Formats: sequence, structure tokens, C-alpha cells
Amino acid sequence: MENGVNMKCRAGWLLSLILAVLLGAMTWKFIIAGQTVRADDGRTVVLLTADERNKVLGEMRGLLETVQGIAQAAADGDLAAAERLARASGMAAAKGEAAIIRKLPLDFKTLGLGTHQAFDDLADFIAGTDDPLAVVGELGNLMGNCTGCHASYRFGIEGARKPE
Ligand code: HEC
Repeated sequence: MENGVNMKCRAGWLLSLILAVLLGAMTWKFIIAGQTVRADDGRTVVLLTADERNKVLGEMRGLLETVQGIAQAAADGDLAAAERLARASGMAAAKGEAAIIRKLPLDFKTLGLGTHQAFDDLADFIAGTDDPLAVVGELGNLMGNCTGCHASYRFGIEGARKPE
């Protein structure tokens, strides 16, 4: 009898252990690691479908238009327009499809969300200043996120024999 209880207890522990390892592996795969390979230029390639990559690159070009617009508005002394543009790329614009998000490494997601947050912070900053040059300085700071991420990551097409 006692032996039976012992066995059950051990089976329970074993099951918990297996579940914990599984959970750990899934956390690693879906939250931390993403779907990546190493590029020949040393950067990490995030593998997406062609459609997903086009979508994300389209968002990227939108971000470039935003920073272009903010720099131009600051030069024109139109801080209201600069604030509007910055706010439009803030956290409210942070959207993502689950299918894409699970392929992104944690560091990439953190940097991406941090960039949307930085646009909100920039909008707040612009609301509290009348100095266009200070706005350009903050924009330069924010763009450290763009250059930082581009230095570390590329996009590739999943299933392609060689990531482009
Ligand atoms: C979290 C990572 C990340 C951040 C932050 C980021 N990008 Fe990107 N961006 C990428 C990756 C990856 C690519 C693809 C580069 C490649 O494949 O060589 C890319 C590509 C681009 C492209 C090229 C689009 C095309 O059609 O080829 C532009 C423009 C761009 N980003 C602008 C920006 C700007 C502006 C910012 C900051 C406001 C920014 N990105 C922030 C990751 C990021």
C-alpha cells in the first residue's frame, strides 16, 4: 500500500518535472528566442513569411516618414504638427499580429515597443517646450533605437534555402 502511494507520488513529481521542462522550452521558443538564424554579416535574421515581412517593412517606412515629418516640422517651427506626428506613432500605434510576434526575439519586441513608447515621450516633450532645436535633439535620441535595432537584426523569408 505504502509503496503504491510512493509510486503515485513519484509519478506526480515526474509529470510536474516534464511539464516544467516543456513550459520552459515553450517560453524559450515563443517568448525569448523567436524564429531566427544568424546572417553572414553577423546580424540576427528574423524569419517571416514574405507577406509578414512586407507588412513589417511597410510599417518601417511609415516610421521613417514620421521622423522625416517631425524633423521638417521642427525646422518650420510648427511644434503642434511635430507633436501630432510623434503621438501618432506612439503606443496607440503599436500593433502586431500574434503570428508575427511569436517569431520575434524578446529583445526585438522590447526595442520595438520601447520605440513606440519613445514617440509618446517625444510628444510629451514637444508639448512642454517651444524650442525646435531641443525637439531635434530628442528626435536624434529616439532614432538611436532605429539604428540600434538595424545594427542587430535583419528580416529573412522562412523556408528560403538561404536567408536573403
Ligand atoms: C526592433 C527593431 C527595429 C526598430 C526599433 C526599428 N527598425 Fe526599422 N527595420 C528593422 C529591420 C529588422 C529591418 C529590415 C532590415 C534588413 O532586413 O536589412 C528594418 C527596415 C527598415 C526600413 C527599410 C524598409 C524597407 O522597405 O526596406 C526603414 C526605412 C526603417 N526600418 C526605418 C525605421 C525607423 C525610422 C525606425 C525608428 C523610428 C526603425 N526603423 C526602428 C528593425 C527595426
